[in-house]
Amino acid sequence: MLGQRRIAVFGAGYIGLVTGACFAKLGHEVVVRDIQQERVELLQSGGVPIHEDGLASLIAENADHLTFTLDAEEAVRDAEVVYVCVDTPPTPSGDADLSRIWQVIETLRDARHLAAVVVKSTVPVGTGARVRAAMDEAGLQDVGYASNPEFTAEGKAVRDFMHPDRVVIGADDPETAKLVALLHEGVDGPIAEMDVRSAEMVKLAANALLATKISFTNEIATICEATGADVEHVVRAVGLDHRLGPHFMRPGVGWGGSCFPKDSRALRAMAGNAGYSFQLLTSVIEVNDLQPRRAIQRLKDELGGAFHTRTVALLGMAFKPGTDDMREAPSTIIASRLLSEGAAVRCWDPLVGELDAAPWSSTTRCATPLEAMTGADAAIIVTEWPELQDVAWDQVAAVMARPLVFDGRNLLDPQRMAALRLTYMSVGRTTVRG
Ligand code: UDX
Repeated sequence: MLGQRRIAVFGAGYIGLVTGACFAKLGHEVVVRDIQQERVELLQSGGVPIHEDGLASLIAENADHLTFTLDAEEAVRDAEVVYVCVDTPPTPSGDADLSRIWQVIETLRDARHLAAVVVKSTVPVGTGARVRAAMDEAGLQDVGYASNPEFTAEGKAVRDFMHPDRVVIGADDPETAKLVALLHEGVDGPIAEMDVRSAEMVKLAANALLATKISFTNEIATICEATGADVEHVVRAVGLDHRLGPHFMRPGVGWGGSCFPKDSRALRAMAGNAGYSFQLLTSVIEVNDLQPRRAIQRLKDELGGAFHTRTVALLGMAFKPGTDDMREAPSTIIASRLLSEGAAVRCWDPLVGELDAAPWSSTTRCATPLEAMTGADAAIIVTEWPELQDVAWDQVAAVMARPLVFDGRNLLDPQRMAALRLTYMSVGRTTVRG
């Protein structure tokens, strides 16, 4: 295939695996390198360590030119392009921890044969310039550098990679930009080329604006609750304005996941480091911190002011449907709050496996939503799994100790719930009592 390249992807997490598998599908020869032996061995034996729609089949179909290794030197030796997809977790100060990026750069010391190093990990603006300087110091002046941030959403990552709204390429020089664009030949989406710093900023700005839309909607929902308006009507009509659009305006118990919380804190910290207080983003984060707590408080009020001796069914644990990812999931805050208030928690999730860590080790896992609700004084929907639509809701009032459902994702129809003799609370809508 014309334009086929040898790519070494560093990091076999969500982003690295999807990037590697998609580049392999595009015809490139890809080796994915990770430091976790267990993970690499699993991948080498045909297993896939994460749940991501379409990923396992993509890896299997391209196995002849998609390999996995622990050996960084071997991966770099045969590569033309190095893609850095390692994680950049938050530090106690809120800044991104870039140590894994530096470890990768360290392995490139003698890699003068490379055409380019591309960073996909989310990093503070200015990281590319520091990496460039480190590469220059290591004698890699002739190796190009580019930033190519990812905008894939978990659960749809393969589709988002192959059909993106845009591919952002920030590069030092036109040849590197052209090379990274060529790697994406076959990807169905426009390319936005720019300087490295702007590319780094696009990712942070996009995630912050998406988080802002959700927190804004959640505040409107709270005002709807206080005034008797219905947030679902409000959002639908507001979203019909083409300048605003309907997306990322679903009210709920807050946003979580591996990106929004980390990236919004990183952007706020980055602004603070530059002497600027990003007040709007600070409020967006605060609204989100309070959102699951507000839900618990409303439920507690409905239960007469105490959770002590109450049993609560927690339906959905993953930070969103379609994934088993629990990173910064609102369910963790909700479970912790319930337990610390003295409630017994029975939880259900179709994908999340057994969890040993607190607070989950103190909860009871149930195989079905109905089992979780059996004998419970309240149920709270935390993740809008489609399976929850199909629950035999007509049986719920009979199996629960008290027929109370708090729908933290506005998944269900209030009138239907009331007709089934349930007290139904939701976000930004009036509570109905069956
Ligand atoms: C997000 C971005 O969408 C993606 O572009 C970026 O690359 C990584 O971060 P992801 O974390 O996979 O992707 O999840 P996303 O689907 O964006 O949802 C994030 C959180 O917001 C979830 O907890 C979800 O439940 C919540 N959400 C989303 C809402 O509460 N309301 C909405 O309207 C949309």
